[in-house]
Amino acid sequence: MTRTVIRGGLVITAADETHADVLVEDGRIAALAAHDSACAQGWTADRTIDATGKYVIPGGVDAHTHMELPFGGTFASDTFETGTRAAAWGGTTTIVDFAVQSKGASLREGLDAWYAKADGQCAVDYAFHMILSDVNEGSLKEMDRLVEEGITSFKLFMAYPGVFYSDDGQILRAMQRSADNGGLIMMHAENGIAIDVLVEQALAAGRTDPRHHGEVRKALLEAEATHRAIQLARVAGAPLYVVHVSAEEAVAELTQARDKGLPVFGETCPQYLFLSTDNLAEPDFEGAKYVCSTPLRPKEHQAALWRGLRTDDLQVVSTDHCPFCFNGQKELGRGDFSKIPNGMPGVEHRMDLLHQAVVDGHISRRRWIDIACAAPARMFGLYPKKGTVAPGADADIVVYDPHAEQMLSVDTHHMNVDYSAYEGKRITGRVETVLSRGEEIITDRTYTGRAGHGQYVPRGICQNI
Ligand code: URP
Ligand code: ZN
Ligand code: ZN
Ligand code: ZN
Repeated sequence: MTRTVIRGGLVITAADETHADVLVEDGRIAALAAHDSACAQGWTADRTIDATGKYVIPGGVDAHTHMELPFGGTFASDTFETGTRAAAWGGTTTIVDFAVQSKGASLREGLDAWYAKADGQCAVDYAFHMILSDVNEGSLKEMDRLVEEGITSFKLFMAYPGVFYSDDGQILRAMQRSADNGGLIMMHAENGIAIDVLVEQALAAGRTDPRHHGEVRKALLEAEATHRAIQLARVAGAPLYVVHVSAEEAVAELTQARDKGLPVFGETCPQYLFLSTDNLAEPDFEGAKYVCSTPLRPKEHQAALWRGLRTDDLQVVSTDHCPFCFNGQKELGRGDFSKIPNGMPGVEHRMDLLHQAVVDGHISRRRWIDIACAAPARMFGLYPKKGTVAPGADADIVVYDPHAEQMLSVDTHHMNVDYSAYEGKRITGRVETVLSRGEEIITDRTYTGRAGHGQYVPRGICQNI
């Protein structure tokens, strides 16, 4: 039996802040006790980590990543190996990635391909959602089996006609199925049919720069799709989780639904909280670095997102990590913004950016841990194994220095992508040491993990309904 004691830190969970030492035994948290208690003083250990003056927090749970996603005629540039190593550097110890059903293929085929891609590669634990891109009798039946297997959430797209798009009938059927089998429908809520008309018109008028990506993917078309998804979920009697919410008007739809007591949940991402259409408008095609969908919005939308996070109208912050290199990948869309692969890097920076939000006064420390660790774990059936520091939980623990200063940059990040979306941004706070199931994978700012340490985690059903 290996024993580690983390001494002297401030343990922060979604519920509490306690000055406590933490005893880890065989990969799990065995006990917490006040620093000077006889109990903590009596603990012996193979290894003691001094966390004096530091925070002791749960490892982050990033519920939205796309490692190696085939998209826009290319592949997301982080593999499970490189992407999960970067996650570890940033204090994220669990990712939930999206396995993809290809058109004409079964869910099984898509899922098996994802198991194979990730197997033996990951630095941190991982689980899967399933993207449904071909809702039919066969795939609807398969959903039941997947829920039993621990794939308990399914992403549908109201955007990307011809690629991942499902029509309202398909969406309703999938929602009805999930109402029966306990699965959670995750929605990419943008009116893709209307957006495609605006894309065609923009290109025909010579508006081809990256900033037009933001202009055609209108906030109203995000809000309309969010509203429609909520009504379809009501008709089906199913809960709904809306991914990557960026528009103030879409937050208002979620707020209205939640005020009615509906089981409707929302996620936003750091890029919508910290970046804006100003980035999309950067000259010399640099704006392509910030092309993702839903798109970045004018700065004015950010206040509604922060407010939603504080009032629990938005529950989760995930990254939607889907990196494409500027050279060779984003460049596919020079002269035609609609050909820029959609997606941004971020898996490494979520915990730090949200700590900066604590420093800036947007959220409290406990809310930081809630939206980044506990809420995503509960939402996707991983709690309390993941997302908290409590006896019995996996010892996925981050020792976080709240006073260290750092600057985000492509020169120092670990994601496999040739730019940083946050180049030059200063952050107060830094991950120091990371334990994954009791093993140190980052030790005093050095990577000590390995590919293959990360294990696949089957999930239970959503714990919020
Ligand atoms: O632009 C994005 N978000 N790319 C990843 C795919 C998705 O829609 O989440
Ligand atoms: Zn203390
Ligand atoms: Zn999406
Ligand atoms: Zn995504």
